[in-house]
Amino acid sequence: MIIILFGPPGAGKGTQAKLLSNYFNIPHISTGDILRRHVKEDSVLGKKAKLYMDSGELVPDELVTDMILERIRKPDAKNGFILDGYPRNVSQAQSLNKSVKEIGFDVDLAIYFEASKDVIVKRLSGRRVCKKCERIYHVVNMPPKKDMVCDDCGAELYQRKDDREETIINRLNVYLKQSTPVLDHFSKHSKLKKISADSEANSVFNVLKDTLDRLKNSDLEKINK
Ligand code: AP5
Repeated sequence: MIIILFGPPGAGKGTQAKLLSNYFNIPHISTGDILRRHVKEDSVLGKKAKLYMDSGELVPDELVTDMILERIRKPDAKNGFILDGYPRNVSQAQSLNKSVKEIGFDVDLAIYFEASKDVIVKRLSGRRVCKKCERIYHVVNMPPKKDMVCDDCGAELYQRKDDREETIINRLNVYLKQSTPVLDHFSKHSKLKKISADSEANSVFNVLKDTLDRLKNSDLEKINK
C-alpha cells in the first residue's frame, strides 16, 4: 500500500503518518525529516538544503527527488510506505509516478488534509519536536509530561526554525503557489480523498483508519463517494 499524505504545512501530516505507520506496520517516509537529518549532520545535501528550508522555500527538485527515490527502494519499504512531504509540485509527482511503477508499485491513494489558516498558524507556532527521536508535540494540544522533555526518550524538545511566524506565512504562500497544482494531478488519476484535518488528532486518525481499511478491502469507489 502506497499512501501519500498531502496538505498545507501544519495540517498534521507528520502526526497522522506516525500513527498510520504503527497501525499498518509500514514505514513513514518524510522528506522534511530526512532533509532535517542531513542539515543536522551537516552533509553536502544538508548544507545545500538549509537555506531553502530556513526561509520556507522548496529545496530544488534535483536534490530531493534522488534522495526520496533512494529511500523508497530500501527493503523496509517493500510492502508499501506512507509518504509525507513528497510530491510537492507537479514535476515531483511525475517523477514519483514513474519510479513507483519501475519498482512494480502504484500509488494507492493521496489523502488531502484540509485545514484552515487559523488552525495552521496555531499548530505550527506551538509545535515542538524531539531532537533525538523526532516525536512531534504541541505546547497546548499535545504537551509533553515534563516541559520541553520527550516522553519517549527523555531528550530535549526544540522549535523548528521554519516555525517562526514570518516563515510560516512564506511556507503557506509557497504551498499555495507550488503545491496546490498537485491536487489536480491526483484528482485526474482518481486517487484523491479529501479529509478535514481541523478536528483533534484522534478524530482525524479514526477517519483515516476507516478510509484506509476500506482501501485495503479494495473499496476505492466507495471511498471516493
Ligand atoms: P516538512 O517538514 O515537510 O514541512 P511541512 O509540509 O511544511 O509540514 P509540517 O511538518 O510543518 O506539518 P505537518 O502537516 O507534518 O504537521 P504536524 O503533524 O507536524 O518540510 C519542511 C521543509 O523541507 C520545506 O519547507 C522545504 O524547504 C523542505 N522540503 C520538504 N519536502 C520537500 C520536497 N518534497 N520538495 C522540496 N522541498 C521539501 O503538526 C503540526 C503541529 O500541530 C504539531 O505541534 C502537532 O502536535 C499539532 N497537531 C497535529 N495534528 C493535530 C490535531 N489534529 N489537533 C491538534 N493539534 C495537532
